[in-house]
Amino acid sequence: MKSIFITRRIPEHGIALLKHAGYKVYVSNKNRALTRNELLQGVKGMDAVLSLLTDRIDAKVLDACGPKLKIIANYAAGFDNIDIAECKKRGIYVTNTPTFLSGYAVSEHTVALMFALSRRVIEADDYVRAGKYKGWDPYLFMGHTIFHKSLGIVGLGRIGIGVAEYVRGFGMRVHYYDAKRNKQAEKTYGLIYTPLKKLLRESDFITLHVPLLPSTRHLINKDTIEIMKDGAFLINTSRGPVIDERALVTAIKKRKIHGAALDVFEYEPDLAKGLAKLPNVVLTPHIASSTEEARIEMAECAAKNIIQALSGKKPKHRINS
Ligand code: GLV
Ligand code: GLV
Repeated sequence: MKSIFITRRIPEHGIALLKHAGYKVYVSNKNRALTRNELLQGVKGMDAVLSLLTDRIDAKVLDACGPKLKIIANYAAGFDNIDIAECKKRGIYVTNTPTFLSGYAVSEHTVALMFALSRRVIEADDYVRAGKYKGWDPYLFMGHTIFHKSLGIVGLGRIGIGVAEYVRGFGMRVHYYDAKRNKQAEKTYGLIYTPLKKLLRESDFITLHVPLLPSTRHLINKDTIEIMKDGAFLINTSRGPVIDERALVTAIKKRKIHGAALDVFEYEPDLAKGLAKLPNVVLTPHIASSTEEARIEMAECAAKNIIQALSGKKPKHRINS
């Protein structure tokens, strides 16, 4: 009987699909990310591993799995936690879960963060709860209007396109940068293709939707922040290391940037020194795809990728062909 190890409990729908397909399914009973040793123990002799973005999957883990391993099915859209080249070398599939609803969930969270920033929703809520609201005041939590402002989308994959789709009614001028131009999306959503530097220079709001690659690590750094418009807002729902977080803290302190909303962090779950003390920053704990609907769909997607791989087919969401 083929065996599958799931490194942490995911929605039952995915687990049920795997059991129904006749596999022996082992689900970690620890309600937390596994330690390195627990991961190395847990994967032993498995035909498939369903991993989370908090599991580092490298040569050592693949060695620990043993020769039966066919697939690492990551329960995430991103896959920077996996040594893709090493898996390819060994003929092991790597798959992700770029599902329809998880893409929209991340796009929605991005829009939520944009409003939270521009209208200072979190600060204002804290203020009211703390009993500080003593009466209407024309200057109280004065924010910024979104209408007629420019939005720069960096990375026009399915999540970046989702953002473009959501903001269509907001009256914003929407620019995007991507290594590949997408004329269809330009036409459908009224997007303006803009080289990265120009986009950084001209956008009031900048939102990041690139995968973490050597070429995107610290894409936002001291120098690129310098290019930005004074008083810009930055949103990141992609991967933390795309931003040099210390440079960002410095820029916000200097009021170069007006504010930032981050769902991901460079040294997750740790935060750069001083970040949490800044009032004009909104911080959420890597929850952009965390809707019930999206997470169920992701669980089913990961399970289907495993079933395809273990029944001799090419899994649909394979990354390394
Ligand atoms: C979440 O960060 C994901 O990659 O799905
Ligand atoms: C605000 O509440 C207004 O009436 O303008």
